[in-house]
Amino acid sequence: MADGSRPSESYAAALRRASVSALWQRNVYPPRGERPRLWRWAEMEPLLAQAVSEASDMQATERRVLTLVNHDIFGAEDFVTTTTNLSANFQVLMPDETAPAHRHSMNALRFVVEGQGAVTTVDEKACAMAERDMILTPAWCWHEHANSGKQRVIWLDLLDAPLIKQLDVVQFERERKKPPPSLPSDAAFAAGGFVPADTPPSLRHSPLFRYPWKAVRQALAAMAPAADGARLLRYANVATGGPAMNLIDCYLAALAAGRPTRAYRTTSNAVCLVCAGSGASRIGEERLAWTRNDVFTLPHGHWISHEAAEGGAVLFIGTDREILRRLDLLADEHAD
Ligand SMILES: [Fe+2]
Repeated sequence: MADGSRPSESYAAALRRASVSALWQRNVYPPRGERPRLWRWAEMEPLLAQAVSEASDMQATERRVLTLVNHDIFGAEDFVTTTTNLSANFQVLMPDETAPAHRHSMNALRFVVEGQGAVTTVDEKACAMAERDMILTPAWCWHEHANSGKQRVIWLDLLDAPLIKQLDVVQFERERKKPPPSLPSDAAFAAGGFVPADTPPSLRHSPLFRYPWKAVRQALAAMAPAADGARLLRYANVATGGPAMNLIDCYLAALAAGRPTRAYRTTSNAVCLVCAGSGASRIGEERLAWTRNDVFTLPHGHWISHEAAEGGAVLFIGTDREILRRLDLLADEHAD
């Protein structure tokens, strides 16, 4: 006999055989509470250095990637993710190494952490990779990497892979059947306020693939700070003013020393790379202290405020805001 809330064993067995589940037996709204995570460069750098000898043959070079894993999410070893909807990896490319061309249904970007001399070619546009440059490799754009320089180059990849995997729409191609669409050169977008008139209007990503650090710093310097002293710049699709890529929306935050930023919380998620300086972030109940090249997450639902130490700090922030916005699930709150 059932006790009113628990089905009898025979009934439970019948449900299993029929592939159905009793709703009154499940916690429909389990607490999620994804916690923030921090990966220290001091720990990452030796692991990346060792990865070069651990994965030295040409096949391994392409996948010489260390993924930053938050084991709290989904809990499955084979479903690695850094925060909800976004995964972040460090990738190392040594001089004379290449990673062959391919394309896929995931959006990705590369933010250069260390070194220069590598080139990422995206839909036949060669994008030089120097420290702190951001290179887009949007969904279905062909991309390959080559390091013809003399230095080890390390970059941070940021992808919407967890969402694409969750939706079971991962697709990957190596064989190019026709040439990619022809886009104006990145140089054609260098003057603010102008885009070539023949820029294809239906692109789901910026026609500009390389966002050089020098240009971003100049734009930041020209901005007035907000009341909390911080300056927040968005990496825009230069043709539309929207996010740089279809589903990934990126920002650069310059923080004033010793002044906590206005607290906010949001339904979106972010991965931050410390480009310069050091400081700490209050994320819900936790305080993460960070320094140059550290990576940390800003999971949804927590009140967030950053504070830079002496000299200020600059954070690169990659977010899934556009995913939430498209679903009408983006909600932001700011403290008074
Ligand atoms: Fe790729």
